[in-house]
Amino acid sequence: MPPTTPTAEDSAMKIAIITDIHHGPKSHTKETGWDGMATMEAFVEHANAIGADLLLDLGDHISDTDYATDVRAATEVANTLAQFKGPRYHVVGNHDVTNLSIGDNEEIFGQSMQSQVFDLGAARLILWQPGVNIGLPGGFAPTTDALPWLVETLKADSKPAIIATHVPLSGHSQIGNFYFENNAEYSTYPDHAAVRRAVEATGNAAMWLAGHVHWNTVTPVGGIHHVTIQSMSERFTTAPVSANAFAVLDINDGVAQLEVLGNDPFGARIQFRRSADRAWLAPMGPFAQSLPELENA
Ligand SMILES: [Fe+2]
Repeated sequence: MPPTTPTAEDSAMKIAIITDIHHGPKSHTKETGWDGMATMEAFVEHANAIGADLLLDLGDHISDTDYATDVRAATEVANTLAQFKGPRYHVVGNHDVTNLSIGDNEEIFGQSMQSQVFDLGAARLILWQPGVNIGLPGGFAPTTDALPWLVETLKADSKPAIIATHVPLSGHSQIGNFYFENNAEYSTYPDHAAVRRAVEATGNAAMWLAGHVHWNTVTPVGGIHHVTIQSMSERFTTAPVSANAFAVLDINDGVAQLEVLGNDPFGARIQFRRSADRAWLAPMGPFAQSLPELENA
């Protein structure tokens, strides 16, 4: 039989997303005595009920306390998310590697925590895992060792790619953010601009999903939509209650619909295509340098 043309139905996919669960006793902003199990269970129940194709967890499973407590908390997260009936993809966050090693996380979640790429049919999912140790003082180390793999992986296939990291690379403003307004250097990698340029140059990325900053944002840069999803346990935007947030990303026929559920609802309807499929004009130089040109125009 000759190959059939893919239909919109073929390219449809639903991704259930959860991030920054921070299961465990410690937190700056969580409700006293807050227990994440109920929301995690509600998330998995929802993901199963809507027939999500995959579950994506963007890291910070736990609030680090000590080795034994962290093993117990991370295991509870892994066991709860394992009730999802489809494939699960996890990245590690900074709190996941404070007392636990990458190997501990791999054992608990049953998955490599190295960077990996997965073919989703009409798109690709890239779990990019540069180091997430948050150096104090100073913040994250540059992604130098991890970036060549990302660029080569993007270049290897022209399907629109979704990149998933714990830490966002959008470089978006942290004004108003409880944690990062006064600590912006801890909100992203120091080489975020160079990473964006390298990724944009491949033309093959469509969307970038991240957690870490505990709020909902969409930042379009160079034809790529950078999205951050609210933390499940956060309440700086929803006090006195917790956000109880999780999200569904529904991609169909070149359009991505994001819905964040819970007490910090958020939504976006955005194009889903390789950045190279539509020209994004490079930002112009400083106005001061362009003034004579503009005046003569
Ligand atoms: Fe977090």
